[in-house]
This record gives sequence, structure tokens and C-alpha cells, in this order.
Amino acid sequence: MSPRETPPLSAAIDRATGGTRLRRLRQSDWIRRLVRETDVTTNDLIWPIFVRDGDGEPEPVASMPGVFRRSVNGCAEAAREAYDLGIPVVALFPFTQTAQRDETGSQALDPSNLVCRAVRAIKAAVPEIGVLCDVALDPYTSHGHDGLVKDGRILNDETVELLCRQALVQAEAGCDILGPSDMMDGRVACIRSALDGAGFRDTMIMSYAAKYASAYYGPFRDAVGSSGALKGDKRTYQMDMGNTDEALREARQDIAEGADMIMVKPGMPYLDILTRLVDEFAMPTFAYQTSGEYSVIMAAAQNGWIDGDRAMMESLRAFKRAGAAGILSYFSPRVATLLR
Ligand code: PBG
Repeated sequence: MSPRETPPLSAAIDRATGGTRLRRLRQSDWIRRLVRETDVTTNDLIWPIFVRDGDGEPEPVASMPGVFRRSVNGCAEAAREAYDLGIPVVALFPFTQTAQRDETGSQALDPSNLVCRAVRAIKAAVPEIGVLCDVALDPYTSHGHDGLVKDGRILNDETVELLCRQALVQAEAGCDILGPSDMMDGRVACIRSALDGAGFRDTMIMSYAAKYASAYYGPFRDAVGSSGALKGDKRTYQMDMGNTDEALREARQDIAEGADMIMVKPGMPYLDILTRLVDEFAMPTFAYQTSGEYSVIMAAAQNGWIDGDRAMMESLRAFKRAGAAGILSYFSPRVATLLR
């Protein structure tokens, strides 16, 4: 049958649809692109990178295919690569050997710790790129927790005092955005006032406002050397996954305390939370596509079970459709390369 002949059901379909055929706008690539509501661009990307002590080549992270721990110089090179690709921000996470960890995470306060050295190296090599640093003690504590522990309990207020000092040390090194990822109560207000008091009024805070206790952090803990160290779990400070109203209360509080941007973490299993926070607060709200989310896609792709690049792009576009201002993703350089 030629398209000009009218098939028997056409009149009935036109009556039913009122003549509106929604498939019309899907018939070719150009029209699909023209009417697309949301898309991911390179401007949406934050690339988390892992820094380690010593020189030499990047060292692969076994549980995160394609992700490496880099020397301080290697981080500066990665930042250059990110800048050349158009990625606005890199986020730094330190790998710390067991021997350098202690009960109070004292390395966090050392102005010449790995993260601070990497920030300085990046700022010297690529001053135009943004740098984000986590504020939390877990890369440095012998027990792997984000805060101080006493008799098996996490001490909130004592931890916040250390976090303020850690934030200052990182701001002094040249960090642009601080990301408190610790989930202690009241830390955003205290960090903001510590920063302002020391003259760092322009240093931004992206709070991990809704951070859930999750199985998806596993590969990250490997990458930073925390997995062997962690005693117990983080459920007394990270959120319970059954809750959404609580995410609103967390975000409202962080915003009132002075957060410039907020984040939801993990990403994909929590898109409903992301959308709810965007609708409620109209703040720049970011999604952290965690290590586990990355590794799940990579593992399936390496087995030939899914098309890795397509699954990657689909996952990132889902964050944008849900309302994210941007995404922290280990895929960032790959995405930026494909978008070029
Ligand atoms: C540490 C921190 C974690 C991540 C970012 N910052 C792990 C944790 O809370 O145990 C996870 C990132 C990822 O899985 O990619 N406070």
C-alpha cells in the first residue's frame, strides 16, 4: 500500500486522536533534536578524580574500570585535560594508606596534605578551572567514619569543629567549592562563618544535602582506601533510603545555613528526591552519580550486555531531565569527548 492510499483504520484513528499524531515529531533526527526538552552538555559536568602520594603513572582502581589514582602532577594533567574538554570543575578525593590514618583524621588539617597539594598544583597549571573538595574526615580516619568516634558513637559537634578547620585549610590552598559530605548537623552554618571570618567570602559551598546510606559507595571506598578501614556503617548520619520528606528538611536547613548549591547522592536511584528538591527550592541542585552506578554500567558494558556509551549518555540525560543543574560523574571526560 502506498502512503497516499488511506488504510482502513485511519479515519477511526484520526477521530480518536483528534488528528494529533505524536509520532510526527519523532520521524527523523533533526526534528527530535529540535523539540528535545532537556539535554546534557559539557557545562553540566563535574569530574571526580583520585589523588595519591608519589610519582609515576596513573594507577587503575580495580573496581572502577577506566578510573585511576593519580599523582599530584597527574591531577594537574587531568585538570588540563578537563579544561581542554570544556569541563568546568574537577572534584578531588585523596587515597590514604592505612599507616597515614589515625583516630581523629589529623591529616585533614594538614595544609600540605595530598588534597591541598593537588589543589595548588591544579591552580598553578590551570587557573581557569574550578576545584571542588569534600569536607569530611573519612579519607583520613583509621575507622573510616566521616566524624570523630567515641564509644562507638559519632560525635557531631566535635566533628563540626574539625570540619571547619579542614574547610579553611582547603580554602587556603585555593579550593573554590567546598562539599561537606559528612552529614553532621549544623556544619554548613559553621563552615560558612569560619570561611567568612577568615576572609573567604567567595568560597562556595555545595552541600551534600540529601546523602543516603547506600551500597553504591563501595568502589569509591576502595578507591580512597576506606573500605578495609570502615568499622560498622554510616547509618547514624547518612539518610535512610525510605525517606523523602526528610530530604526536604535536610535541604531546607542547609540552604538556611548558607549553602550556595545542594546535592543529592546517590544519583539514579534517587531521581525522585532530586526532582522534589528542585521543585521545592529552585536552587542549583546537583546529582552525584556514584562509583557504584559508574561500575554497574562499566561492568555490564565490558561483558557486552549493554551498549556502554549509550547507557552512559542515557544515565546523564536522566539527571538533567529530573532537573539537575549538573552531575558529578566519573564518566565526565568520556561524555565530554563524545559531545564534541
Ligand atoms: C565521603 C564520600 C563518599 C563519597 C563521596 N564522599 C563515601 C562515603 O560516604 O562513604 C562516595 C562517592 C562515590 O561513591 O562515588 N564522605
